[in-house]
Amino acid sequence: MQDRRGFIRLLGGGTLAFGLAGSLGGCDAMPAEALAPWQGPAPDLRDPRLRMLAWALLAPNPHNRQPWLVDLADPGRVTLYCDRDRLLPATDPLGRQILIGQGTFLELLRLAARAEGFEARIAPFPEGPFPPDRLDGRPVAHVYLTPAPAQREPLFDSVTLRRSAKVPFDPERPVAEPALARLAEAAAVSGIGFAATSTPDRVTRLRAIVRAAWFTEARTPAAHGESVALMRLGAAEIAAHRDGISLHGPMIWWGSRLGLVSRAALADPEGSAFQAGVERYMKMFDGTATFAWLTSEADRRTDQLAAGIAYARLDLAAAREGIAIHPVSQALQEYPEMAPHYRALHEELGLAPPARAQMLVRLGHAPRPDPAPRRPVESLVI
Ligand SMILES: Cc1cc2nc3c(=O)[nH]c(=O)nc-3n(C[C@H](O)[C@H](O)[C@H](O)COP(=O)(O)O)c2cc1C
Repeated sequence: MQDRRGFIRLLGGGTLAFGLAGSLGGCDAMPAEALAPWQGPAPDLRDPRLRMLAWALLAPNPHNRQPWLVDLADPGRVTLYCDRDRLLPATDPLGRQILIGQGTFLELLRLAARAEGFEARIAPFPEGPFPPDRLDGRPVAHVYLTPAPAQREPLFDSVTLRRSAKVPFDPERPVAEPALARLAEAAAVSGIGFAATSTPDRVTRLRAIVRAAWFTEARTPAAHGESVALMRLGAAEIAAHRDGISLHGPMIWWGSRLGLVSRAALADPEGSAFQAGVERYMKMFDGTATFAWLTSEADRRTDQLAAGIAYARLDLAAAREGIAIHPVSQALQEYPEMAPHYRALHEELGLAPPARAQMLVRLGHAPRPDPAPRRPVESLVI
């Protein structure tokens, strides 16, 4: 039992794990084909709309579901739909986060269109916005494309550099004020507010809320089960799905073979694989010296889409600045078990309904992690 615990602790990312991982070489490495989209569109991909979409799918999105479908039947237009087979009903019951992930996609699409020589005019919700409680089959947006001189906006250069940095940051190194001011400028989108803090007392209170909310999610079977179902264990599963939460490397490989790492083990709050996840996340939260958040005056579908556009810009600007960014969304989620943390967070941020936070992120300094998998662009086309 002790050995089992020790092994699992290694899985949590202790220094020994890195040593052992190194000595085992490239065992269970991230499959190259899952990362191929990070090279940008293939040189022989001629259709400009597919080229833009190949950039857009590098957008941050909840749980890496990549919940995007596009209809290219009308020339000169892209119609974006939510892929409703890729929703997160337990942790995102209203579809708010999925819609933020449509906004991030649209902003990358707009930037890519500029770079490919098109002006993109985005018409959101052309058949009316979704109801507040669910995402239906109507389009998220029509994107009208007209030829224009090719222009690389500076944020476009960060598209392949961007990452959600699910790693501890240097706890002694908050993000400097001038850099925060540049992030605020990049994220300025009508109706969306940006704020940040590196004040130690406030950061300590926010860490406590983030930690408590994370535990609540982990101990709510439907919510935690949703994440576990999306875990891709090892290179073969990652290559097959190219989405979700990738877990790979020698420790996962050995753990799977020894029966210590499995979906059931990861779902069991009393088990050691689960505990390894707890340790990993607590290290991340403790290694946070700056938090930032995006707010909206209300929580309409248009606010959520705008928050996604602002978040894409914030994320790209962070990549440009060499600042690590990591969303921590649990306390923002809309299921009953989370309500006390939602209230505590909004009280801490000084937000009263109908205003709300749409994104909460850790900001800091850390080595740039590897990218997360993406599906090929063709898989988005209806
Ligand atoms: C609306 C939204 C909420 C997110 N919430 C979380 C979160 O709570 N925890 C987390 O680790 N990542 C979160 N992410 C980051 C995604 O997991 C990440 O974008 C996805 O896995 C793809 O990885 P990449 O951003 O590195 O390309 C969120 C992203 C978005 C757009």
